[in-house]
Amino acid sequence: WSASVAGLAIAYLFGATPSGYLAGKLLKGIDIREHGSKSTGATNVLRTLGPWPALVVLLVDVLKGAAAIVFARWFYPWLATVTPPAALDLESWTAWAVPWVVCLAGLAVLLGHGRSIWLNFTGGKSAATGLGVLLALSWPVGLGAATVFLAVLAISRIVSLSSMLAALTAVALVCALEQPLPYRLLVIAGSLYVIARHRANIQRLLAGTEPRLGQGARPT
Ligand code: G3P
Repeated sequence: WSASVAGLAIAYLFGATPSGYLAGKLLKGIDIREHGSKSTGATNVLRTLGPWPALVVLLVDVLKGAAAIVFARWFYPWLATVTPPAALDLESWTAWAVPWVVCLAGLAVLLGHGRSIWLNFTGGKSAATGLGVLLALSWPVGLGAATVFLAVLAISRIVSLSSMLAALTAVALVCALEQPLPYRLLVIAGSLYVIARHRANIQRLLAGTEPRLGQGARPT
């Protein structure tokens, strides 16, 4: 059990790696949580630090999500060879249990990004990390969500709206493509989490004050 929990803690710590915060500190000596939307995500890094730091943070955050899934898929079958599960043979355990622990690892990495232990449990909105999770879980779902993100962004130039619609697209695709139940539950719960993290953005969208890409206005 302790080794299983350690696997989830490692997935959480992947997510908790504070890439946006570090970019602010290293490049400008600022706490990005005191600027713009106060998020540590790539959009706020773009607003506050510019395009190159934002691109690096975006890539790191996507990789964090993908790494947690790849890690869980490797770690838990390996763990089962070291301490064989009592009730099931190795093959049945891998087939049955691994998708469930991958599901939990996916939620752990999203939580780590949104509520980082290194940042007093603050962080980003987990959209980029969620994309990494999707790409590693099921690349057609990830690709579909990324396409909707880019299409909505091209039309609206509003990143938060694009992220939330991409999250909803992921739910539709993971159900339509008949993915295993743990994967569907991960994508549904993860998408709800990403949307819930956008509460302030939703209020600004309704008030018509959400900034578009390239606009100087800083959200409060
Ligand atoms: O991924 C976060 C994005 O959807 C919104 O970021 O900084 O505009 O709240 P931000």
